[in-house]
Amino acid sequence: MAQDAAAPRGAPASDIDPFTREHILDPYAWHHRLREMGALVWLTKYQCFFAPRYAEVHRIISEYQTFSSAAGVGYTNFNKEKPWRQPSMLLEADPPDHTKRRAVVGRILSAPNLRGFRAGFEVEANKLIDHLLEVGEVDAVPDVAQAFVLKVFPDAVGIADGDRTNLIKYGTMVFNAFGPQNEIFDDSVRDLGEVGPWIMERCQHKNLKPGRLGDQVYQAVAGGQITAEEAPILVRSFLSAGVDTTIYGAGNALWSLATNPAEWAKVKANPALAKPAFEEVLRYESPFQTFFRTTIEDVELAGITIPGNEKVMVNMGSANRDPRKWDRADVFDISRDVRGHVGLGYGIHACIGQMISRLEVDVLLSELARRKIDFEVSGPTQHIVHNTLRGFAKLPMRFKQGS
Ligand code: HEM
Repeated sequence: MAQDAAAPRGAPASDIDPFTREHILDPYAWHHRLREMGALVWLTKYQCFFAPRYAEVHRIISEYQTFSSAAGVGYTNFNKEKPWRQPSMLLEADPPDHTKRRAVVGRILSAPNLRGFRAGFEVEANKLIDHLLEVGEVDAVPDVAQAFVLKVFPDAVGIADGDRTNLIKYGTMVFNAFGPQNEIFDDSVRDLGEVGPWIMERCQHKNLKPGRLGDQVYQAVAGGQITAEEAPILVRSFLSAGVDTTIYGAGNALWSLATNPAEWAKVKANPALAKPAFEEVLRYESPFQTFFRTTIEDVELAGITIPGNEKVMVNMGSANRDPRKWDRADVFDISRDVRGHVGLGYGIHACIGQMISRLEVDVLLSELARRKIDFEVSGPTQHIVHNTLRGFAKLPMRFKQGS
């Protein structure tokens, strides 16, 4: 690792680049190092502050009045540069615009409104498990996480059947764009072709199945709660934020439980533990590692003044393993009190799709547990190289009937 540079603005400084392949693939050692350096570390390469500890991450994502999302939650500052797409109406908006839209979408993605989907998700999980028992050995990324999520989630939104892999490509590009415009981002936009227009076409009312979640967004137009222009962009936010996040979440869950068989034994003995197990996965192997905020005005944080209109990088992955907050932070323990993890964010921008992603992974894990299935990692794994997300590109696994 390179030497740290001099400390500007009273903060410790580091020339570490969080967006290199090497650091993306192995984040926990440098997270530890930056947490030990200070509550805020100045990244010399990106000329912005980095918040590696839980307390400051929590404060930044709570204080939307000071730390804005409307200038983008990536490295690009929309106050200085034009955004590459029309910004998200939820993720990249501040109150009051954000508040009204969040109320509409929050009701649609609420647990009571999703209850009706559980039985159908269980049917799909069981078909998948039958197949896994038949073939035994699979790559759990395409054959389990993608197969399950790409079936149940777009069905719930009301997307037509057919090839849905464009949803993964779109999500990959959107979240890579939250990092700098590096090679990793360039790779994710290469060969994208017509993916953007394909997505927008899927978000039109005429293409959404009646009664499903996407259609419910349009019903809010009829009710006067949102405008006709807002509706397709809000449906788009389901598709951009809801697919690869949950796929990586499901993959991280299978890996965490396979490599901690005593924890899986607990879930098998009591499938109700699938829920807390997934919460611990969101802490331990956070699919969303990092976001940015932009200061609206000068603000003091941890004794350092951050000037207005500056980007601050918040690292949820690091906060979720901060030993100042978590006992035995690097241990995967489904019995711990995991409340307060920031794997789904916190405050007014906390993940609005959390109930459906929890439902998906809960159904998958609890059906595996109910049927007493055992699984293990059966070959070399490979992580994705991604500017903001953490998950597997390759996860060879063996599934078999246990007892
Ligand atoms: C395991 C899966 C998921 C993870 C780890 C995840 C993570 C997150 C995080 C960390 C945030 C906070 C962003 C911030 O503070 O700036 C967030 C917000 C958001 N998520 Fe998720 N998410 C997941 C699944 C989903 C799903 C399934 C959907 C859609 C149905 C979704 C839609 C959104 C939207 C629209 C926001 C912005 C909310 C707002 O700004 O009010 N996410 N997500």
